[in-house]
Amino acid sequence: MAGNWKMYKTAAETTAFFVKFAPLVEKSEHADVVICPTFVNLPAAVAAVQGTRIEIGGQNLYWKNEGAFTGEISGPMLKAVGAQWVIVGHSERRQYFGETDATVLQRTLAALAAGLKPIVCVGERLEERESGNTESVLKTQFDGGLAGLSPEQFAQVAIAYEPVWAIGTGKTATPEMAAGAHRFIRELVAAKFGTEQAAKTRILYGGSVKPDNVRSLMAQPDIDGALVGGASLEAVSFSSIVNF
Ligand code: PGA
Repeated sequence: MAGNWKMYKTAAETTAFFVKFAPLVEKSEHADVVICPTFVNLPAAVAAVQGTRIEIGGQNLYWKNEGAFTGEISGPMLKAVGAQWVIVGHSERRQYFGETDATVLQRTLAALAAGLKPIVCVGERLEERESGNTESVLKTQFDGGLAGLSPEQFAQVAIAYEPVWAIGTGKTATPEMAAGAHRFIRELVAAKFGTEQAAKTRILYGGSVKPDNVRSLMAQPDIDGALVGGASLEAVSFSSIVNF
């Protein structure tokens, strides 16, 4: 169960969130619980989760370890600050910051090389769904962004299926729609990395997940978790999702 905080919260707000949130998920051993704050708030988040089961992730990384890349952050830097996860290829990165399947692969490889667990995002836009192209979009994203990994590398990856039209819009995919996409992604994994790996791969759903719809989504056999934006910003709300 992962929270993507996008460009929200100051350091003080980050600390205040964890003071409230940590006790609410203290016994939530059924799930890994991850929060991905902004880069500048990673130290505050890492300090706040000391001694808890909550893990911290970045929202992006660059694929070089260091260099003259103004404004970028590397995998080793995320690792050094105490992050264990990193989101790669979120649709907002693809839409506003020029992310492509090829750069998703480079970032994923860089995350793995740094010892971070990538949460790699895939998902179709509204016009792609409406024109019946959801599966071909997912296959292109999988082939370009993930199929190039070795089996050992792929074993460290979690995939997030996030239909772009459901992000921040209040429109959730119906559990059946989400389940269909998850099943398709698991078939892609099975075809490339084998059925054993496919059964073990964590595929998270994202897109307007809320306390009141998480249960029906999580009831679908191929939905293993959630990547939550808006509803992860508030402690009671995100803890209700974790503890669905
Ligand atoms: P949302 O965002 O839950 O606010 O729709 C999900 C995401 O972008 O990961």
